[in-house]
Amino acid sequence: MTIALTAEIDSVTFEQYPSPLGIGIASPRISWKYASGVKDWYQTEYEIEMRELDKGTSQTYSVASESSVLVPWPAPPLKSRQRMQLSIRARSRNGVWTNSLTTEVEAGLLHESDWSSSFVSSSFTQPLGIAKRPYRLRQSFTVQLSKSHKARLYITALGVYESYINGIRIGQDVLSPGWTSYSARLPYQTYDVTSLLREGTNVLSAWVGEGWYSGLLGYQGGSRNIFGNRTGLLAQLEIDGEPVEGDWEWSFGAIISAGIYEGETYDTNLPDASEHSQGEWHKVDILPTPTSKLFSSQSPPIRIIQSVKPVRIITSPSRKIFMDFGQNLAGVVRLVSNPPSNSGSQLIIRHAEVLEHGELGTRPLRFATATDKIVLSDKDISGYHPRFTFHGFRYAEITGWPAISLKDVEAVVFQSSMHRSGTFTCSHALINRLHENAVWSTMANTIGIPSDCPQRDERLGWTGDVCVYSPTMSYLFDASGFLSEWLQDLWHDQRKLKGVVPIFVPDTGTDVSTPEAIWGDAAVLVPHDVYLSSGDLAVLERQFESIKMWLDEGIERNPSTGLWSRDRDQLGDWLAPRAPPETPNMGPTDNLLVADAWLIYSTRTASKISRAIGRIEDATRYETQAKELTEEFYNEYVTTAGRLVSETQTALCLLLCYEIFPPQCKGSLDYRSLFAERLGHLVMKANWLIDTGFAGTPIVLPTLAENGHLSHAYRMLQATECPSWLSPVLLGATTIWERWDSMLADGSINPGEMTSFNHYALGSVASFMHAYIGGLSLLSPGWKTFSIHPRPGGTITSAKTSHQSPYGKIAVEWEIRDGVFQMTVEVPPNCTATVTVPGSQQREVIGSGVRHYSAQYSLPSFPPPPYIPHFAPVRPNEWAA
Ligand code: BGC
Repeated sequence: MTIALTAEIDSVTFEQYPSPLGIGIASPRISWKYASGVKDWYQTEYEIEMRELDKGTSQTYSVASESSVLVPWPAPPLKSRQRMQLSIRARSRNGVWTNSLTTEVEAGLLHESDWSSSFVSSSFTQPLGIAKRPYRLRQSFTVQLSKSHKARLYITALGVYESYINGIRIGQDVLSPGWTSYSARLPYQTYDVTSLLREGTNVLSAWVGEGWYSGLLGYQGGSRNIFGNRTGLLAQLEIDGEPVEGDWEWSFGAIISAGIYEGETYDTNLPDASEHSQGEWHKVDILPTPTSKLFSSQSPPIRIIQSVKPVRIITSPSRKIFMDFGQNLAGVVRLVSNPPSNSGSQLIIRHAEVLEHGELGTRPLRFATATDKIVLSDKDISGYHPRFTFHGFRYAEITGWPAISLKDVEAVVFQSSMHRSGTFTCSHALINRLHENAVWSTMANTIGIPSDCPQRDERLGWTGDVCVYSPTMSYLFDASGFLSEWLQDLWHDQRKLKGVVPIFVPDTGTDVSTPEAIWGDAAVLVPHDVYLSSGDLAVLERQFESIKMWLDEGIERNPSTGLWSRDRDQLGDWLAPRAPPETPNMGPTDNLLVADAWLIYSTRTASKISRAIGRIEDATRYETQAKELTEEFYNEYVTTAGRLVSETQTALCLLLCYEIFPPQCKGSLDYRSLFAERLGHLVMKANWLIDTGFAGTPIVLPTLAENGHLSHAYRMLQATECPSWLSPVLLGATTIWERWDSMLADGSINPGEMTSFNHYALGSVASFMHAYIGGLSLLSPGWKTFSIHPRPGGTITSAKTSHQSPYGKIAVEWEIRDGVFQMTVEVPPNCTATVTVPGSQQREVIGSGVRHYSAQYSLPSFPPPPYIPHFAPVRPNEWAA
């Protein structure tokens, strides 16, 4: 093995943009990551050579700085379309330079005045009450190309689009431009189309579907045309910075209808409206320019991120044929082979997440019909998949394909193409599956926005779900661009509601938005999570008005205490297992106690945010408020003897985890020990089963671990009866379910109206795996400093976790064998880790590089000596490995 003497820069990014092409900020901050390997490498200086490619001039900027993440743009701001070449290198404390990495960056269209094209649309008036028929647009133009020509397409839609030049698909993105609060913000995409153009006549074309813009959205029947009733396309093709001219025309083609919830119908007998097809082409309508701001998005485009082959074909009791993909996912079915056909016969694909008594379990989809239809002809359609819809499914019922075989279809998975940044495995197979389930639920609920679920008539950006899940999401994926764009929509929609954060963003206006704790607290906590995981202060600066407006104006308060108003109910500890199926906010923990605890936590977080961005007055104000609210909280909910109103797992965890302890004057009791003891007692009393919903679930295991109850935490994690994390796994779950018992043990679907098999919120337990089993947790924003401290327990004898941080790869791998704990850790250059070795006094602060540790160690006996509550027997299989 060769030991590297200096660090190597292996990638460069600009702001949080997924690509350096078409970025929308004139002075983008620059980050570089280091490859691993070198020991104790710290940067002291960097050098950026900026070369203006068109002019051939260059300038070198040297900066004495330890920063390698989001450093300021040193040169004059970029102009629209301007391209720069950058060569970046850095020097270590001992004066050794890294490699010099060369990359390019190109600005998009930075000003409204850069747009000369108009939105064009079909001239057909579509009926308002049904899914709209997608149409095809085309524009021919003639060009003479220079040898070094450069062509760019700037494009977006009111609706969703897929574009082509000369019949070749442009890029790989699907459902573009994704979903934003369209009335305020419409993202455009930039493509390098240089290689697709040819001398002479070319055709630019695109399909336009209704998507989220004017399609059906929302539950209880939902609404259509929420953002507008006319779909349209804006496409500006430029060659060497000059827009090309040409007339647009439109035609219907083979797609009969396409709706996000409904699915897509495709008739192969019809002319496909490809670019050169004859058929009927009509003059387009020019649409009025929308008021929304066009911007280049930092959220990665939605793409097909993988394909999944079916694992078995099932014939149901009613003789239906189902493909089982072995994995619940979000995407569509792609035809790998060409289905046999008699002209006019139909292939129908229905989707469901589960089977109920052997048949497709579609009841949980509610109004989402989730059905794709293909009218067949002798045309070969192998490779086809629906374009403008997606479904949440594991099973697809396929009708109209006699003798279908496993190789004939596959599922293609859609997701905003964030980089996967976090991994985890350990010696416990069921826990590994649970972790994978969280990963799959994250994938399925990050299609354009952070959503609740991908299958039923919702798929909305419920703010509470992401509020409790964003730390987990940010470990598993680089979600900084994805979440920070969504936060800007949150701010826009919140402003319209005078400070109230809508319960889902983008706000469709289909539900009344009243202020709700946790859901509204997303305005404060999600930006803070993004800041912690990425180190990006600009997110906090950008969201600061939103944070303030929520706390200062949005929350409905009790005027005499400043706590939440007593006059309205809350969603509370949503979906706690003891809540009745039809009323998920009626769990055992007092809803206002939950709301008030989150209010204190958010207020304190707002104080930290204010301090981080230098708003010292606000920092002090929120700190004082948090103290006063805590005092009021104690008056309201804690007796003088230290007993808590609605003393539940959730209530105690909120106080312990968010450190809601009384001000000095009431501080004679040792509340931490008191609450910790009660929590341990309650957990045992519940036989180590879960009693928490959205509010308590993310924190219950860390709280136990931090308060002297690590063995309870493991016992809870390894419990297998319902409600526990492993009970769905034992019933075959491949994603995180919305309810602990979405599927009942007898194989029937929970009768609750609201039963999804793909909700990420309860998957926040994965964070316990990363931080406590694996042992990785951040100490400062962006993982500049972090802790490596595995806390082994349960029956787990080995684990590994890794995270691609903004600085580079962090990894831990440990194993207990023959009474020895052995661990290998990897720290990226320019970072510092504090390592604690379990079972020994060994604790050290280290720099970059790979290191090995070992110490005598034996796992505490598990389960610990039995505690036998008088009201329930200890169940023998709850710690099954
Ligand atoms: C969603 C949840 C959401 C909740 C709040 C549900 O229908 O699926 O995840 O947070 O409503 O009311």
